[in-house]
Amino acid sequence: MCGIFGYIGKRKNAGALVIKGLKNLEYRGYDSWGVAMRLSDGSIKCEKDVGKIGAVNPDQFKEESSLAIAHSRWATHGGVTKINAHPHFSCDQTIAVIHNGIIENYGEIRDELKAKGHTFRSETDTEVIPHLIEEELKKKGTTLEEATRRACIRFTGRYAILVLDARSQTLVAARTGSPLIIGVGEGGEYFIASDIPAFLEYTRTVQYLDDGEMVAVHDGKIRFSDIASSAERTKRLVTIDWTVSEAEKGEYEHYMLKEIMDQKDSIRRAVHQDDEEILAVAKSIENCIGCILTACGTAGKVCMAADYFFSVVAKRHVNFTPASEFPIFHHFLRPESLIIVVSQSGETADVLEAMKVAKAAGSKVLAIVNTQGSSIARAADYTLLINAGPEKAVASTKAATGQMAVLLLVAHAVAGKLHEGRTLLLETSGQINDMLNPRYIDHIRDVAKKIASHDNMYIIGKGWNYPMAMESAIKIQEVSYIHAEGFAAGELKHGPIALIEKGTPCIALMGNDEFTADMVSNIMELRARGAQIIGIGPKKFDVFDHWIKVPDSGAAQAIVNIIPVQILAYLLAVIRGRDPDMPRNLAKSVTVK
Ligand code: F6R
Repeated sequence: MCGIFGYIGKRKNAGALVIKGLKNLEYRGYDSWGVAMRLSDGSIKCEKDVGKIGAVNPDQFKEESSLAIAHSRWATHGGVTKINAHPHFSCDQTIAVIHNGIIENYGEIRDELKAKGHTFRSETDTEVIPHLIEEELKKKGTTLEEATRRACIRFTGRYAILVLDARSQTLVAARTGSPLIIGVGEGGEYFIASDIPAFLEYTRTVQYLDDGEMVAVHDGKIRFSDIASSAERTKRLVTIDWTVSEAEKGEYEHYMLKEIMDQKDSIRRAVHQDDEEILAVAKSIENCIGCILTACGTAGKVCMAADYFFSVVAKRHVNFTPASEFPIFHHFLRPESLIIVVSQSGETADVLEAMKVAKAAGSKVLAIVNTQGSSIARAADYTLLINAGPEKAVASTKAATGQMAVLLLVAHAVAGKLHEGRTLLLETSGQINDMLNPRYIDHIRDVAKKIASHDNMYIIGKGWNYPMAMESAIKIQEVSYIHAEGFAAGELKHGPIALIEKGTPCIALMGNDEFTADMVSNIMELRARGAQIIGIGPKKFDVFDHWIKVPDSGAAQAIVNIIPVQILAYLLAVIRGRDPDMPRNLAKSVTVK
């Protein structure tokens, strides 16, 4: 949700630098963009427009500048217009602000400021921030840091803000609920961004801003403090192990395809866990009274698959609740409960809210995340990283399979079969490596061409292939905009079968398991109504019109089965002329509720 990037230091190309870095955060929002850079005469140059930052040439910002901020927007308050694009300014045009999140009480603050003579230009909640800071600065002896602090104390809601003051040449950032990370460069230069890829080219040393904290940078000096009390905070320096090439598209046309292909290796990285840690986590699952999995979207479907992993592999009952619904079940939480949260970004607002509810009940939280140092990772009692590396396409692919791999490993550990689980997953990783070759993708492209013109698709599965059917639907919907729905195979005849017409594409996710006969019967019922069947599984059946072969991976079948669907969704998007990396209306890292 909205990309934020600011620079302050000795370099003279801050404008171009922030635009270039922001392009690496475009997955966070791409309705419109904007930049504000302080020029050497003390004025601010601002450019903004609707559309994607990807199309903007950084070289057009060649004026000398050592302090700049840039923003890519995912609209919440106010339509997608140039005026609503960030940065927003104080009346005297000396303070520029970019913002991610929502200032819930902006209406009352705006009315108050209007009454004091402030002029508002946009429909955004954000615009109250520079005006309120400007108002606070009128009080004698107030610094930008203090004015921002006082403004933040007034705000309700979740936000991350960057404030540029052209007069004092200061950059201030504050967060409550939305991420901000400080990249520490050479000789007193600092990069402040909503996500690490913005500045990975310059530094891998970071400091994390926590909720309720702010940071002020001026003249090469940095000061962290608590927003409420103004008490100074000290911060650890952390080294990030992501590399620039991991965060780039490389030879691939789209990040989504690159990330799908990275699954040749990412499952192995996910399984690369410390035995002692996995065994400690397994013990806490065994000992807890009530274990609940929670997450959103694709990560939620991963949790549903994990329900099956724990049931089948470990004979342990674990429940899934979508994170946005989780607080409703707070009555069942107690100090002995264990909540397992799953997230790629580690910043999803609904998941953070669920964690807050769990913590309030005294329950323990295990986080399975991709982003090291993210808010969820830091707030959890135990964290397992999936080591997928940066995932930049909006549609989650390698993170989802990495999350499943870790959960399947943990389920094996709970069953006292950690070694067996690791062996299975390493073998699966090898199978995926063999499967992901150009001929395989060409075959899926042939299938995609045959079904791309249809407006509706259905996906069925049984056992852990049921949540994968639901995940398949998410993948197809979000990148190709084809209406797709996933069902438990046995449920079709209870209603949804009425939707099947001649030629309707139906994908059947199969395993080499005890459900084969049931699945074949359900497929026959679909075929009898004219459906066109795309079978994904290790074995070919006559009931398939098209077969996409996958290896027989036993308990890891859910992981291998989703990969050809990811490829199919990607190809459907490309064939239909959609941008798979930046689907409409979406953004990665959903930091609003
Ligand atoms: C879909 C997708 C989303 C995310 C969801 C949770 O492909 O990526 O459904 O899974 O927004 O995000 P994280 O995993 O970052 O918490």
